[in-house]
Amino acid sequence: MKVGIVGAGAMGSGIAQVAAQNGHEVVIVDTQRAALEKSRQGHEKIMARLQEKGKLSEEESKAILKRIKYDTGMASMENCALVIEAIVENIEVKKEIFRHLDELCGEDCILASNTSSLSIASIASAVKDPGKVLGIHFFNPAPLMPLVEIIPAITTAAETVDKAKSIIDAWGKVTVLAKDTPGFIVNRVARPFYSEAVRIYEEGMADPATIDWAMTELGGFRMGPFTLMDFIGHDVNYAVTESVWTAFFYDPRYKPNFSQKRLVEAGRLGRKTGFGFYDYSEGATKPEPNRDEELGKAILDRIVAMLINEAVDALHLGIASAKDIDLAMTKGVNYPKGLLAWADEIGPAEVLKRLDALYDDYREDRYRASVLLRRKVKFS
Ligand code: NAI
Repeated sequence: MKVGIVGAGAMGSGIAQVAAQNGHEVVIVDTQRAALEKSRQGHEKIMARLQEKGKLSEEESKAILKRIKYDTGMASMENCALVIEAIVENIEVKKEIFRHLDELCGEDCILASNTSSLSIASIASAVKDPGKVLGIHFFNPAPLMPLVEIIPAITTAAETVDKAKSIIDAWGKVTVLAKDTPGFIVNRVARPFYSEAVRIYEEGMADPATIDWAMTELGGFRMGPFTLMDFIGHDVNYAVTESVWTAFFYDPRYKPNFSQKRLVEAGRLGRKTGFGFYDYSEGATKPEPNRDEELGKAILDRIVAMLINEAVDALHLGIASAKDIDLAMTKGVNYPKGLLAWADEIGPAEVLKRLDALYDDYREDRYRASVLLRRKVKFS
């Protein structure tokens, strides 16, 4: 089965590697020759490393590399059974690619987008038979992150979903099914991890180092929010926050923060530019946190309550099943526990109490508890 990938950037290259490692003939198309060359070199480097580590034999790594073709012309997408698009996050450009794919690919070819935030229904509207279009959303880096969100649009045929799911399952990934709504599961539910942390900082309750310390040392998160935002890049992270907020008709629950916007405007994008919330220049020392457990716990409890609220609300709105919501956050962003399981551990009444305290204090819709959480407490 031949797999086509459009876009040879970080995501396209990673997905191509996964497909080739699983025995598929793969063709990657990009308009930029330099991007294709970079992708090829990246694949060669990774294969050499896997060989060095003894994870692949020389024969295997050579065969994998041989299965990947790099091309600037879309015509090579012919005969693919599955095409995954991973180009720039722009609806018009994506639609144009899908129109083109529709002309080139056979009727049975599944057409997927790796978009993080755009509507699958809108992308699918560009082709004659939208039944064969869906979202297949990998996480970065695709070869290492186990989670893949499978997103049917309202127009996607059930058969397309089943086929796509069984292919990605066979690649050893953990698939979850998500509704075609902004941010799907992970990029929706995770918003407070970043934005509530920034808000706490903006209000002067604690500095980034202390908030990061509370989340990692007391909460068990692998990376603190500020370290993670600096790592992802503020351009990317802010763009997701702003697009989710806009797509939710400006729901204050997803409202972005000025501190992060200013970092983007100043070009302080995080690690990649040497400066973000932290200084990464040579000789710079990381600030020490205030290891006050009471303060740290207050921060952690607030952010965890906000995250749980998002997870419960996603369940309430049928974005995904309870099992998939918890899987998504543990396998997609390495949370120490599923948020719904965490809610049960803390107790829904306690979570509701924390949210209502915030709501009373701020009188902002941002802190409104999900009706499902309220009902759980009421009827338990
Ligand atoms: P990137 O900027 O690294 O790569 C995009 C590539 O697409 C570039 O090489 C560019 O030359 C190529 N391209 C642009 N227009 C094209 C066209 N018309 N035809 C052919 N190639 C074209 O982007 P990245 O980060 O790989 O993201 C790709 C997609 O994956 C986006 O939709 C993004 O939202 C999504 N995504 C990104 C994640 C991330 O962490 N970077 C995670 C999950 C999804």
